[in-house]
Amino acid sequence: MLDSRRTFLKRTGGMALGAAAFPKLDLSRADEIRTASEKLGNIPPEAAARDEDFWYHIQKAYRLSPKFINLESGYFSPQTYSGVEALCKNTQMINEIPSFYMRRMQGKERREVTQLLAGFAGCSPEEILITRNTTESLNNVIMGMELKKGDEALWGSFEYPSMKEAFIQRAARDGIVNKIIEIPLISTSNEDIIKKYRKSITAKTKVILVSHMTYLSGQILPVREICNMAHEMGVEVIVDAAHSWTHIDYRIPDLDCDYYGASMHKWMGSPLGTGILYIRRNKIKNIWPLFGDMNYDSDNINKLGHIGTRPCAIELTIADAIKFNNSIGIDRKEARLRYLKDYWAEKVSEFPGVIMNTPMDKERSCGLANAGIKDISPSELVNYLYNKHKIFTVAINAPDIKGARIAPNIYTTLKELDVFIDAMREFCYS
Ligand SMILES: Cc1ncc(COP(=O)(O)O)c(C=O)c1O
Repeated sequence: MLDSRRTFLKRTGGMALGAAAFPKLDLSRADEIRTASEKLGNIPPEAAARDEDFWYHIQKAYRLSPKFINLESGYFSPQTYSGVEALCKNTQMINEIPSFYMRRMQGKERREVTQLLAGFAGCSPEEILITRNTTESLNNVIMGMELKKGDEALWGSFEYPSMKEAFIQRAARDGIVNKIIEIPLISTSNEDIIKKYRKSITAKTKVILVSHMTYLSGQILPVREICNMAHEMGVEVIVDAAHSWTHIDYRIPDLDCDYYGASMHKWMGSPLGTGILYIRRNKIKNIWPLFGDMNYDSDNINKLGHIGTRPCAIELTIADAIKFNNSIGIDRKEARLRYLKDYWAEKVSEFPGVIMNTPMDKERSCGLANAGIKDISPSELVNYLYNKHKIFTVAINAPDIKGARIAPNIYTTLKELDVFIDAMREFCYS
């Protein structure tokens, strides 16, 4: 789709636009991965996660700097080499037929990508919108919901700042009340987390904001259960899925949430500036657009996408990221990411002074985790890793979570993790 000269000519009705031939995308890597993937057969994802031959093919799909070891996939994950190629080709194609593309083709092509994305996410194309990131997706919802003075929004102190700030702005503008709960996450069971939310709901609570996977430590929260409980009490739920989207294996409807936002440039490896917004069909009409719109009916999610001239090449390239993720399988990706986390965490957690800030049980974490060292500031640890060993991570200095966030990805090799383990050993034993 979207990438061959034949498709291009079909799209333009065979018009000679003076454009040079668009060479077929080099998806040989995706084909190679598909073949390797088929070779694995039906072995369980946990077994596939340990098949270094298979993951070698994935590692080869990326072109990464050899100057440092990147263990910070939480901000954004690179595109594969073929993804970068697809982006260049889509950019070139649009630039050869600039306004023609925008006036005659972009609408249809965005609908095609949206359709593809909806299939990938497990929902209807009428319920999703391509945005630029989680911040845009969830600001649309938070700023657009009907909340009046005194209505309560409930969220944990560990939520991502952009969403907290949106609710704080609603409090300043509209007089809503933000009820912020403190949950010592790591030491609290899923049942107790759900209880904590339930106990904090009052007659005035209208909405809960909850991260599926926290950005501080990678802990997975029981969002499905929180949604069930909240719905029983007449409360809507917004899920911040910035880190769980294509990191763990689920379809959006599995969560049973009302609103959902994620960044496709994080774990999915789509181009920077691609996000997804999902709104349960019967809730769309309740959300006011953030950018004024008179083009769509109130129950059409496209009313929320009126951002002006759009970065079309980036949006088209989502198709390539979907293809790449499908060629691996999200179940295998989840298993590999968890395997990589377990690989380093099981060793590092034994070193003197190490404090794991992430629960290790399978349901409560995956590839992203946080490790601190007693009496050592997060920035000291992070600087040591980078300055001495050229290992790049990020310092997390939250009240109850202090450490380095370690986020390997499907392109990370075990050899790289061994360098990290050795560096941590050296620090802890010196
Ligand atoms: C939990 C969470 N939500 C939202 C965001 C914001 O993502 P973006 O900047 O892509 O909008 C992040 C970014 O790291 C995040 O970790």
